[in-house]
Amino acid sequence: MKITLPKNSRLTSKDFMFGVATASFQIEGGVEHRLPCIWDTFCRTEGAIADKSNGDIACDHYHLWQQDIEMISSLGIDAYRLSISWGRVMNQDGSPNQTGIAFYTNFLDALKAKNIKAFVTLYHWDLPQHLEDEGGWLNRQTAYKFKEYTELVVKAFGDRVYSYATLNEPFCSAYLGYEIGIHAPGIKGREFGKKAAHHLLLAHGLAMEVLTNLSPNTLNGIVLNFTPCYPNTDNLADITAAKYADDYFNQWYIKPIFDAQYPEILSTLPTAEHPDIVEGDLSIIAHPVDFLGVNYYTRAIYKADNKEVFSQVMLDDVPLTDMGWEVYPQGFTDLLVDLNEKYDLPPVYITENGAAMPDEITDNVVIDKDRVSYYNTHLNAVNQAIEKGVDIQGYFAWSLMDNFEWAEGYLKRFGIVYVDYQSQKRTIKASGYAYRDFIKLRK
Ligand code: FCB
Repeated sequence: MKITLPKNSRLTSKDFMFGVATASFQIEGGVEHRLPCIWDTFCRTEGAIADKSNGDIACDHYHLWQQDIEMISSLGIDAYRLSISWGRVMNQDGSPNQTGIAFYTNFLDALKAKNIKAFVTLYHWDLPQHLEDEGGWLNRQTAYKFKEYTELVVKAFGDRVYSYATLNEPFCSAYLGYEIGIHAPGIKGREFGKKAAHHLLLAHGLAMEVLTNLSPNTLNGIVLNFTPCYPNTDNLADITAAKYADDYFNQWYIKPIFDAQYPEILSTLPTAEHPDIVEGDLSIIAHPVDFLGVNYYTRAIYKADNKEVFSQVMLDDVPLTDMGWEVYPQGFTDLLVDLNEKYDLPPVYITENGAAMPDEITDNVVIDKDRVSYYNTHLNAVNQAIEKGVDIQGYFAWSLMDNFEWAEGYLKRFGIVYVDYQSQKRTIKASGYAYRDFIKLRK
């Protein structure tokens, strides 16, 4: 059970960066020290979370952060990706919350002391509830509030941070949160998704301006998720359907950033579904980024559908993770090569990749063979993309430890470290050791 890559590949060299990732709401707890956010509210909505849980305690990282840093450091990684909880560092009136700032300052200082680079995401979905009460991402003003929040963060943390990402996966915030309503704030309606997406992208562009001005020495960019779309057959109708799905779910969030325009399918959408674009918005959104963060988990297959344009096809007899997601490493290589062909990309970092598996712990040991195999095949897929000319500089495993997996609550485990939520005991899984050993062997 090892991770093995071809000798002399980029990934076996010391200048390729390896890390692990987490997000504030998923691990922190410490809820009494911050403003309520949309996920606190959503967790209290009947039927929203599979195990009816919430983020009040999560991994109690707010209190256990010192021991967590020791654990992170024991993995031998170069970098740690975390997110800042907006409502922990900024009060409702816009003033700084010094307790929250001190929490992250201490954490970032401790990381620095261990020589671990901090990759900070400003927004990993925990919008303060008072902003949702004003319309959330459907309200253009939220983008300007995000700009103020970015200023506050950058001024507070300065050179403790190596890299800032504005948003994590705006597709999920917009589509899952405001179109199909399976994520917070749980709003449903085709007329909302693209409007929310536009304000998120505008927020990204406005924050990029702040980062470029106030934090020119950090690596500043955005994290996008992609589920590459494959046609069910090579019939033209299926190919067209898959292309449409790709534009709707994937290109929608990247094309404005690199090409300053939305995909052409915009013109096929009913006017009610159009984003509210103000003149100049697209040039704000297309502010140059220093890096692109790419999150990849699986692919999707589409066929033509007379009513809905496209519909998803589920394959039988393919390996699935505990999320029901197909294990398809080839999709990772295809995606990276395709993005590199379509856009003039800056350096790419894989900011999330990993798998939920039905882990069992016996005598303090977790033998998660399937997860080790997932990492092995997916790291090799990244290597293939590098060999095909994509400039990839780093890789972050999702996730450091098991945590609150959004609508699935604590039922799905993505960690390379096992968390017993009763005792809050952490146990490094076989995948964690395999990752550590692989990282250690680099030359
Ligand atoms: C991504 C999220 C991350 C985690 C993984 C499994 O969409 O960014 O928080 O939940 O999926």
